Amino acid sequence: MRLFLDTANIEHIRHGVELGVVSGVTTNPSLVSKEGKVDYKTLVKDICCIVPGPVSTEVLSQEAAGMVAEAREIVTWAENIAVKVPCTLEGLKATAVLVREHVKVNMTLCFSLNQAILAAEAGATFVSPFVGRLDDIGEDGMQLVVDITRYLSYYKLPTQVIAASIRHPAHCLSAANAGAHIATVPYKVLLQMVEHPLTDIGVRRFADDWNKVMGTAGIVPPK
Ligand code: G3P
Repeated sequence: MRLFLDTANIEHIRHGVELGVVSGVTTNPSLVSKEGKVDYKTLVKDICCIVPGPVSTEVLSQEAAGMVAEAREIVTWAENIAVKVPCTLEGLKATAVLVREHVKVNMTLCFSLNQAILAAEAGATFVSPFVGRLDDIGEDGMQLVVDITRYLSYYKLPTQVIAASIRHPAHCLSAANAGAHIATVPYKVLLQMVEHPLTDIGVRRFADDWNKVMGTAGIVPPK
């Protein structure tokens, strides 16, 4: 499973890429707004320079014609852009046009297998089931990821699943077990993924054992 960062924060993206584990980014209007009153185009272009893989950039229009016009402009900003379009009738109509123009579309705000089936039929490159938001209303968000990945793999369809609205490291585990192609994770969750108390204990014990016999020369004990 590949990891994308679900953020528009440049420093967080830079750090994730530096760690060698982040190959794409997903943004949305809420995430961009968190960065303050920024120039959307400049911000997206900066992100695209930092991260090698696709940078999902959302359209703001709610009608197909507007979505298409926005998407045509957005794809001129960088080569590694995927346009995020909502799983609505207008979104499908826009996707049909954009796919013919070889634009990579990420169909977002997906909350059902039926929406994912339509996204795949429309030729979307990615479909993004929102796990946490389904959990929030008492549904099983990860079951949707299981259902979509099983469906796509059964029919050998090329659309890739981005498990989105990930809230904690256990969501990442389940997404990987479900066979999601990608999980897009908040920066905080990315940092949590590496943590394990036994790793910290092990690192300290190795250093202590070494130092007891060899002395501290050449090794810096962890704090
Ligand atoms: O990738 C979608 C994500 O940004 C939504 O997350 O936590 O607002 O449901 P959340």
